[in-house]
Parts: sequence; structure tokens; C-alpha cells
Amino acid sequence: MKVGIVGSGSMGTGIAQVAATAGETVVIFDNNPSSVDRAKKSLDKVFNRLVEKGKYTQDQANEIFGRITFKSQLIDLQGSDIIIEAIIENLEVKQDVFKQLEGIVQESAILASNTSSLSIASIASACKHADRVIGVHFFNPAPLMKLVEIIPAVSTSDEIADKAKSIVDSWGKTTAMVKDTPGFIVNRVARPFYGEALRIYEEGIADFATIDHAMKTIGGFRMGPFELMDYIGNDVNYTVTETVFHAFYNDPRYKPSFTQKRMSEAGFLGRKSGRGYYQYSDDVEKAQPNEDKGLLEQIFNRILAMLINEAADALFWNIASKESIDLAMKNGTNYPKGLLAWADEIGVELVFNRLNDLYETYCEDRYRPSPLLRKMAKNNERFYN
Ligand SMILES: NC(=O)c1ccc[n+]([C@@H]2O[C@H](COP(=O)([O-])OP(=O)(O)OC[C@H]3O[C@@H](n4cnc5c(N)ncnc54)[C@H](O)[C@@H]3O)[C@@H](O)[C@H]2O)c1
Repeated sequence: MKVGIVGSGSMGTGIAQVAATAGETVVIFDNNPSSVDRAKKSLDKVFNRLVEKGKYTQDQANEIFGRITFKSQLIDLQGSDIIIEAIIENLEVKQDVFKQLEGIVQESAILASNTSSLSIASIASACKHADRVIGVHFFNPAPLMKLVEIIPAVSTSDEIADKAKSIVDSWGKTTAMVKDTPGFIVNRVARPFYGEALRIYEEGIADFATIDHAMKTIGGFRMGPFELMDYIGNDVNYTVTETVFHAFYNDPRYKPSFTQKRMSEAGFLGRKSGRGYYQYSDDVEKAQPNEDKGLLEQIFNRILAMLINEAADALFWNIASKESIDLAMKNGTNYPKGLLAWADEIGVELVFNRLNDLYETYCEDRYRPSPLLRKMAKNNERFYN
């Protein structure tokens, strides 16, 4: 199969590696020659490292790398069976590229977008044959993150959705089908991990180190929310939150935080700028968390209840199946457990009561429990049998 990729940035390059490793012939196009050069060099380095680590022999690495060609003309994507677009996150630019692609590909080709925040319907609307346009959302870094969200728009045919899913499955990825709604599964359900942590800090309940410590030691998360925001970049993470907030017609559940906005404005972006919630230089002493067990539990229980509420609400609105929601959070963000299975483990009623307490304490819509949790708690139900 011939796979076309538009955009040789971090995502396009990663997706090219995934497809070529799975045996596909890959053509990657970018309109910026220096980005193409960078992509070539970075893939060369990646394959060298994989050889050093003993993952591949030099011959195997050469063979995989040899399946990728780098081009500077869109027309070179002609003959592709699937094209995955991973360019700048701008609707007009993406629509323009999709229009051009439609003019060069064969009728049976799938046109996919890796967009994180735009609606697939709006991208597809630029095409005459919108039925073959779909969202195929990889996570960063694409070769390492198992999850790919498959997002059919209202205009996508079932046949294209099934075909896109089976292609990505055959590349060894775990796919989750999800409705074309803001944030899809992961970028929607994960919002409270950051938002509620920031809120707890803003209320003066605990500092960054203590909140991170609670989520890691009690919850088993690999990184705490502030460590993760510093890793992702406060500018990037803030923009995702703001986009999801506006896309949900300013639902207070997703309201962005001033703390993060100011960090971003100050240039305290996290690891990439040397300073975020933490400072990343050897001469700065690491902040020590408060070890008060009661405090740590309070923090963990509050953030987890908000996460479970978000997962339950996504299920309530039929965004995806319960299995897909749990799988997505484990494979797209490395959560230690699926949130709905976690709710069963703790007890849905207890989670609901924790949320309801928050709702009554603050009288804010932000804390409203999902109707699904309310109903399940009342009927003593579980997500899984
Ligand atoms: N970075 C992430 O963590 C991440 C994760 C999932 C999805 N995404 C999505 O993937 C897409 C790409 O993100 P990225 O981080 O790889 O961006 P990036 O900035 O690293 O790369 C974008 C590339 O697209 C090229 N480009 C821009 N306009 C073009 C055009 N008209 N034609 C051809 N090439 C063009 C640029 O030269 C650049 O090389 C975005 O839609 C983003 O929302 C990003």
C-alpha cells in the first residue's frame, strides 16, 4: 500500500515511521524544504538509535528507512491509498490542502486528518467527496503512543471508517472510534487532570509538588499534572484547554486557568524553556511535597472524581463506547487504569457522592455530576459486570 503524508513536522515524521515500519511505502510531502531536511535527519537519527539499541539490524533499518521518500511537490502523493495530513492547525490551510488532494488522488483513496482540535466535518466540507474524509488522530510521539482515535465525520461513509480503522490496526496501533466532537476522547476526558489540579493550587489547598506527589503515589500516575504540563508545554496545554472550552460553548467544566495563562505569558513554558511550575537546572533544589496522608488523599480523590465524571459524561453523550474510553485513556495518556473500570473499583456511588459534595460546596456548574453517574449511583449500577 502507498501511504501519503502531508507535513513533515513532528507528527508527520512519526506517522511516516509507523507506516514504514509496518511495511508500507511512504511518501512524505512538505511545502517547507528545511522541514523536509529536518525530518530526514531526525528519522536517520531515530533509526541509528534503534540499531544501536539492538531493535533492528542495520539492514533492517535501511530497508524500513528506504521505504520512505521525501518530496516537495503535492503531486508526488498521486497513487496513494491513504493520505494523512499533519500540517499546521489552521482550518483554511487544511481545507485548501484537502481540496488540492482531491484533485490528484484516485477515487478510492482515503483522505485523513491528524487534527487535534478542528472538526472533521469542517475539513471534509471543502471536498466534493466528503464521504472519504476522516480523522485519524495519532498521539505524540506517534511511534511510541499506542492509541489512534478514528473520527468519522457526519459525512464520512461507514466503509471508509472501517477501512481507515483496519489500516491503522494493521500498523499495530490500538484504535478507538469516536464521534466528531471537541477534544475527541483523550483531549476531552483528560481536561480535569490539569484543570482540577490548577484549581486546587489556586485555592491554596496544596502546592505543585504536593499535588503531583498525590497523583503519583496514591493514583499511580507516571507523572503528576504539573510535571506533565511542564513536559507538554504550558502554551500548548493552555491552548488545548481554551479550544475545548470555547468549542463546548464555554461550559465552565473546561474553564482555563489564570495560573496557566500567566505562566504561558511569562514564557514559563515548562521543560522547553527551562522553567515552568518547576525549574529545570541542576543548581535549583527540588521542591519537597507535603506528606500529610489525609491531604494527599483529598487531592487524589477530588481529581479522580472529576476525571471519572468526564469519562462518564463522554459515555452519556455516546462519544465512544465504555471500552474505547477506558482504552483511550490508558493508551493515549498512559493512565494506570481505565477511568470507568476505576469507578467500578471504588464504587460509583462513592464517586458520585464526592462530586455531589463538591457541587454543593461550590455551587458551581463545573462540579455538576454527569446524569449517567447520578442514575447509576441511585440504581447501584456498575460500568462493567
Ligand atoms: N504535536 C502534537 O503533540 C500533536 C499531537 C496530535 C496531533 N497533532 C496535530 O498534528 C498536526 C501537525 O502537528 P505537528 O506538531 O506535527 O506540527 P509541526 O509544526 O511540527 O509540523 C507541521 C508541518 O506542516 C508543514 N506545513 C504547513 N503548512 C503546510 C502546507 N500547506 N502544505 C504542506 N506542509 C505544510 C510545516 O512546514 C511543518 O513541517 C496538527 O494538526 C496538530 O494539531 C499534534
